[in-house]
Amino acid sequence: MRFSAVIVAAGSGSRAGAETPKQWRDLAGKPVVRWSVEALLGAGAEKIALVVRPEDRATAEAALAGLPRWSLADGGATRSGSVRNGLAAAAGAEAVLIHDAARPFVTAAHVANLLKALETSEGAIPALPVSDTLKRQVGDRIETTPRDGLWRAQTPQAFRLDALNSAYAAWPGDSEPTDDAAVIERAGGRVALTPGDPLLMKLTYPEDFPMAERLAGAARIARIGMGLDAHRFGDGDGVWLCGVKIAHDKCLIGHSDADAGLHALTDAILGAIGEGDIGDHFPPTDPQWKGASSDIFLVHALKLVQAKGGRLANVDVTLVCERPKIKPHRQAMRQRLAELLDLPLDRVSVKATTTEGMGFAGREEGLAAQAVACVEMPV
Ligand code: CTP
Ligand code: MG
Repeated sequence: MRFSAVIVAAGSGSRAGAETPKQWRDLAGKPVVRWSVEALLGAGAEKIALVVRPEDRATAEAALAGLPRWSLADGGATRSGSVRNGLAAAAGAEAVLIHDAARPFVTAAHVANLLKALETSEGAIPALPVSDTLKRQVGDRIETTPRDGLWRAQTPQAFRLDALNSAYAAWPGDSEPTDDAAVIERAGGRVALTPGDPLLMKLTYPEDFPMAERLAGAARIARIGMGLDAHRFGDGDGVWLCGVKIAHDKCLIGHSDADAGLHALTDAILGAIGEGDIGDHFPPTDPQWKGASSDIFLVHALKLVQAKGGRLANVDVTLVCERPKIKPHRQAMRQRLAELLDLPLDRVSVKATTTEGMGFAGREEGLAAQAVACVEMPV
């Protein structure tokens, strides 16, 4: 089922006790809100409306830099006010997922369960059975409350958009729902329960942050890809390698600029995300890639990673040739790759080796490049 998402991030995070609202704080290397946006993009959200306070727009834009298919909507005075504003931005979708920005560890598996349940109901929510004994304080006494049949509702919550819009239209103005399923329940719609998950915890109190830092590792998976490319030398006055032109008494022959370093690296990234190889995306038979700068191929592969909710962790390229000598140009190559991939320099490595005069590289018939890329993807 196709779906859009609304992520509410217009609260002030007063219980979390920090000056910066919790959704903008750093969690294991990136803003809390970015976790959810990347994961929902990776789970196939067609578009995402992020609902924020007007004064937080610039912060939100910085937090989501480089990610596709999102837009901002203005927050309301209450959570449900924010949801209503976000729903307007989701117009036209069949299904909508409504999610708290403060729950960073949503996964594609959670989303798949919700969408499946939505085939037979108006709403679906992840819920956990209450496992602790419940106490109610009445004056200076406490009583024990039966917990049978009680569930803790989490987000994302999934709805058929038409049903949710009409239920919200019928909700009384003088009261405030504590989640969106409550609105469907009141309108008489069916809400299905899907398996909740401790990973869907909501960052609420200061002590939730250290706990979330520890969970962060469990919500991402590292994937590795490798690439290999070789090009033949021809008559010319220089070669392109890793996005840098180096003067030489030969050139490299190829359909594009024959930058074997960028080609190997592009294949490594595509390999890490199971997206075939460079020829699938840029067929050598297609005249539009004749003489093309291979930067385009690399940036395309990076965009695919980001569209799946992932990010590059590091890359490592090895160039195999007798000449030109690579060492004087290594730093420039690293810098160019870091720039193209938007990575810090220490996550980009370029190395070189000869083959001691053996084989095609040794005879200087051509040169080769190998590359490895590591990406972090949502589980
Ligand atoms: N939220 C919102 N608009 C509001 C209030 C809350 O978009 N007017 C969002 C929050 O940003 C959060 C989610 O709703 O992602 C769940 O709310 P909660 O955990 O209560 O967050 P805050 O309201 O920000 O925190 P607190 O209640 O501690 O102030
Ligand atoms: Mg609140």
